[in-house]
Amino acid sequence: MSTGGRARVLLMHPILDPGPAILAEAAEVIAYPAGQPLDEASIRRAAEGCVGIVSQLMDPIRETVLSTPGLKIVSNVAVGFDNIDVPTATAHKVMVTNTPGVLDDATADFAFTLLMTAARRIVEADSFTRQGRFRGWAIDMMLGADVHGATLGLIGVGRIGRGVAHRAKGFNMRVLYYPSAILINTSRGPVVDEAALVEALNARKIAGAGLDVYEREPAVHPGLIPMPNVVLAPHIASATTRTRSEMSAMAARNMATAVRGGRPPNLLNPEVKR
Ligand code: GLV
Repeated sequence: MSTGGRARVLLMHPILDPGPAILAEAAEVIAYPAGQPLDEASIRRAAEGCVGIVSQLMDPIRETVLSTPGLKIVSNVAVGFDNIDVPTATAHKVMVTNTPGVLDDATADFAFTLLMTAARRIVEADSFTRQGRFRGWAIDMMLGADVHGATLGLIGVGRIGRGVAHRAKGFNMRVLYYPSAILINTSRGPVVDEAALVEALNARKIAGAGLDVYEREPAVHPGLIPMPNVVLAPHIASATTRTRSEMSAMAARNMATAVRGGRPPNLLNPEVKR
């Protein structure tokens, strides 16, 4: 993929060490202009003259961007790639890569955190205590649901789902591979119809929820906000220092390999580069 001079790569957002050094060794790295909106036309303008884009999940990478002349690879710093139109990338012979595997354990840990937090009413209990409302032990105060021995339903059992099932074994839970009474979502927001979830919670058909992702992210359905039996997190399931650093390094390595003319290890559309 040599272009005579140094190949240029557009870095949409800062990434963690050692990602920047890996990228800088392989290419001239151009930072996306600060304050520039994240729409396709602006990204396309910034990508002109670049062979690669290191993107994140808030960057829309579709036809307008993918048709940039000379663009060869989009390296997404995420395992999910719903922000990228992969078939259109394939049609334009643009490679697309992601960062699978390195975030499975952190995300499974977090799904379990949301489950425990919702079941044991930790958010309510914390604000109750902070507000000075704890006046002494009471036999019926903040009664929650047992997690140990409960039944865990998993929808979509990939690497992360298997990780959650593995943790559930330690809690002596029965694992069913479909729905549940406390709904946890650490995948992608549109997997859950939030209006229907609010309705189900109001009707007490579902006891609680733990959400890390939202249907119209970053907007959160207003019906969820006042609900004390719902735990809301800002899409941080993979946010541990080690995991985000490994994701950064992996995305940078995918990019560096492609810039040097190789086949990146986490290629989502192998038909582009055999
Ligand atoms: C995070 O949501 C990811 O897809 O890596």
